[in-house]
Amino acid sequence: MATDTFDPALLEDASFQLNPYPVLKQLRAKYPVWRNPRNGMWYVTRYEDVAAGFLDHESLSSTIFEQSHSAVFGPSLTAMDGEEHSQKRAIIAPEFVGRKLDAFLPVIERNVRDLIVRFTEKAAKELVERFIERRDVDLVDAFSTRLPVNVIVDMLALPQSDHDRFHYWYRTFLTGLSPDPVLRKKGIEANAEFHDYLDPFVQERLRNPGDDLISKLCMAEVDGARLTIHDIKSFISLLLTAGGETTDRAIANLWWLLLNHPKQLEHVREDHSLIDQAFTETMRCEAPVGGEVRLVMRDWDIGGVHVPKGDVVNLSIHSANHDEQVFASPEKFDIFREDLYIGREMRIGHREEGRSSHIGFGLGKHFCVGYQLARTEAVVGTAMLFAAIGDVRLKPGHNPVMGGNDGMRSVTSLEIQFDSA
Ligand code: HEM
Repeated sequence: MATDTFDPALLEDASFQLNPYPVLKQLRAKYPVWRNPRNGMWYVTRYEDVAAGFLDHESLSSTIFEQSHSAVFGPSLTAMDGEEHSQKRAIIAPEFVGRKLDAFLPVIERNVRDLIVRFTEKAAKELVERFIERRDVDLVDAFSTRLPVNVIVDMLALPQSDHDRFHYWYRTFLTGLSPDPVLRKKGIEANAEFHDYLDPFVQERLRNPGDDLISKLCMAEVDGARLTIHDIKSFISLLLTAGGETTDRAIANLWWLLLNHPKQLEHVREDHSLIDQAFTETMRCEAPVGGEVRLVMRDWDIGGVHVPKGDVVNLSIHSANHDEQVFASPEKFDIFREDLYIGREMRIGHREEGRSSHIGFGLGKHFCVGYQLARTEAVVGTAMLFAAIGDVRLKPGHNPVMGGNDGMRSVTSLEIQFDSA
């Protein structure tokens, strides 16, 4: 298969930033595993191949993130492989979902779910009450950027009054993950500042542990040894970023899609049990995270193409979620589509009886730790908003443009008008 006739300039064009799907469609159709001659990175774009990549931990490694995630946050779960990753993940993952635990699974799951719902409802309620008197609101600024960070800050038992600082920190960490040296430096500096801020809290929880996540990290043991203070702070940096920015964008995208599809919005408003599937379809149609990169550890044959050891691949989530071999008319937002698996997400994914899972939370060992927390925040928050704001529509003349491609994709503001319920 020819791999040199696709024009790499298409990936750098401004239109790709606004809407990557037509270009990704070309790649899927003709060059499903394609090496970009400008940077040597391979794009993997078909659903089957992307899923295979996420699940193949022998051929593909996450250590590629040592240069970005670990450089900014400090030692990062996302950049670990093998045993080290499993051990560290086992400390934190049960706090969010309780999956993968044997005998204690149901108990932990129930408790984690209760915690998630409690934190989510509390944060959502506060915010709804704060802007309920205003009939015009930017839903992103007033709600979606605040709810996830408030929830994670409550879970960590840090002061909500520092909200603006948390917001600045996680946004700066995130932009620091880009290869741009200036942004990287800012990200590293912001992380050092955040670690200094965290220091007295961590010291206190080491002395007097409570029920919060920081205390759990302080008390956790790996192979009989405690995590270092640096490890604990780095974990918290990752959680703040992973839990804040992504969920923020997922909620914004869910609302943008619903507001642009008034009939489906009406269905969901009338029957809140549909919010769950609206969220799932959002994660397919406009996933906040566009793809993940991996380092090739041994020669990898995928989609009929040979990818040599040492190269870097980009597993395109946006493309997999829009693969027409898997999802009919993939560009259409349709909460009633019959080819999307709607149940609870699974690390190994789901492909049965004509229904497939979205890949918006990744797959495999690095499958998102916070998938259930994110879903709960979006679903509970949306239900409470519906109950509180009555009839809702986009503010006339204010339909924002969705933007971003490989990295984060979302609307960054969402001006709505509503009648009090
Ligand atoms: C809709 C919101 C979210 C999206 C779209 C999302 C997306 C993802 C994706 C695609 C990955 C896989 C990374 C990889 O394979 O390299 C991931 C991993 C992760 N996510 Fe999320 N995430 C969301 C919410 C959250 C929340 C709420 C938390 C926690 C509070 C969280 C914590 C994490 C962590 C810690 C990892 C790393 C897991 C590992 O490396 O083992 N995420 N997320």
